[in-house]
Amino acid sequence: MQPYKILPSILAANIMNLEEDIRTIFAANSHKMLHIDVMDNHYVPNLSFGPIIGAAILEKFPEAELDVHIMANPIDSLINEFASLGVKRLSIHHDSTIHLNRQLNKIKDLGIAAGLALNPATPIDILQWCHTQLDFILVMSVNPGFGGQSFIAATLDKIAMIKKLYPKIKICVDGGIHSNNIKDVFQAGAVEFVIGTGLFRTPSYVQTLDKFHKLLTE
Ligand code: DX5
Ligand code: ZN
Repeated sequence: MQPYKILPSILAANIMNLEEDIRTIFAANSHKMLHIDVMDNHYVPNLSFGPIIGAAILEKFPEAELDVHIMANPIDSLINEFASLGVKRLSIHHDSTIHLNRQLNKIKDLGIAAGLALNPATPIDILQWCHTQLDFILVMSVNPGFGGQSFIAATLDKIAMIKKLYPKIKICVDGGIHSNNIKDVFQAGAVEFVIGTGLFRTPSYVQTLDKFHKLLTE
């Protein structure tokens, strides 16, 4: 099994071609995970997908493992709605809820892998008080809200610090990942890579995934 995973982020996809694109990507990737960004024009200044798109994807691709990144406030009802669809992972931001521990417990009680998403300026100290509840940490390498932004270089130090403190928790990195930085991110300690623009805006998904795989295994 590969020691890393690439999670295609459909935020950068051409929605009009989504079904065909998912089919192509599932055929070329080693697993069936998709990253779904939920944006509410409140927690972040953009609107994107809600449970309806998750349900539509699962109807066509019941094998899809949806990794849902909630950038919204409030999050309570969204957690329930995504849980009832059967998503595999949910990540939330600490500042979108008053009671982070309660929400993480709720996600885990629903049988879903729980992730804490850290914005670029969020200190990692918060992990001290919730790491036992986490299945993964979503390190944001751009400010949440938009695809196509540039990778924030300080993220590499942040990943390395988290890896040193919590070596057993998977680190997933989200934002600005391309072939020129994926190896550095991997070497810093991340094992999962959310990739939107760097995949969906390239001419051949198969060739792009192949390039990422080569960079991560050479
Ligand atoms: C940003 C989102 C990301 C986004 C990454 O708020 O959380 O998942 O899709 O997109 P790229 O790869 O284009 O930076
Ligand atoms: Zn995301």
